[in-house]
Amino acid sequence: MTSIDVQGVSKTYRVRGAGSIDALSDVSFTLSSGQTIGMVGQSGSGKSTVAKILTQMERPTSGQVLLDGEPIPTRGAALRAYRQQLRMVFQDPFASLNPYHSIRHHVERPLVLSGVVPPGEVDAEVHRLLDKVQLDAGVVDRRPHELSGGQRQRVAIARALAPRPALLVADEPVSMLDVSLRMGVLSLLSDIQAEDGLGVLYITHDLATARYFSDEIIVLNQGRVVEHGSADDVILRPQHPYTRELREASPDPESFFADHVGGVR
Ligand SMILES: Nc1ncnc2c1ncn2[C@@H]1O[C@H](COP(=O)(O)OP(=O)(O)OP(=O)(O)O)[C@@H](O)[C@H]1O
Ligand SMILES: [Mg+2]
Repeated sequence: MTSIDVQGVSKTYRVRGAGSIDALSDVSFTLSSGQTIGMVGQSGSGKSTVAKILTQMERPTSGQVLLDGEPIPTRGAALRAYRQQLRMVFQDPFASLNPYHSIRHHVERPLVLSGVVPPGEVDAEVHRLLDKVQLDAGVVDRRPHELSGGQRQRVAIARALAPRPALLVADEPVSMLDVSLRMGVLSLLSDIQAEDGLGVLYITHDLATARYFSDEIIVLNQGRVVEHGSADDVILRPQHPYTRELREASPDPESFFADHVGGVR
């Protein structure tokens, strides 16, 4: 089992001419393999800052992040190894894939860099990964612009899974997709999470899908954790007024279940 511990993390951005912004204040939580945590909050609440700190794109101003009890490495081979353990799926499937490279290249590269399979098995592994994200083998020689947004996001998921990570951070992975494609991609992520025993941090504005796909939910408001509990408790019995506000502002979680899964879970 792999766990990442976020302990009392704060992040202050200094903005030239505009003072500073406290993007995160004293945020703590643990994400372990085998579980999905939904992280919700309004725009600007600090969700992506959490993702950036987990992937070491940003450093905390104070506090620390531990992987299995050890501080996460800040450079070199150890940082590369860490980044294979914790992978990221970004919001924008149009910007996150390189338009000049084939789908094969996107999935092959992390396989080669991580060395998880011997060179002779890379091609078979590319096909296994594409099959895992339910893409037809025929896409390998195509380029990103020849695929739909939903297909591109499946490529991004295959690429994230290539080094066989224990943990996945998905920052609003479906918010830029056509509404009709969202459930398919989220269900795929959820199936893979269960199959591979991944730990997933699912960042979203959408309380209904956060409840449906997560074991626990963390609510962020202005950089602080205002609520953290089991998904049902947070949505059905919110303790904090901000969570109630969010709930009122979102489509009714109950009707979401009626529409998508034929009733309340
Ligand atoms: N590089 C940066 N420099 C200065 N301020 C930043 C930077 N990145 C984020 N911020 C600020 O930090 C706060 C948190 O931003 P963050 O992107 O984490 O929010 P978010 O919850 O992901 O929002 P959204 O739902 O819109 O994606 C915001 O006030 C934002 O303007
Ligand atoms: Mg964000």
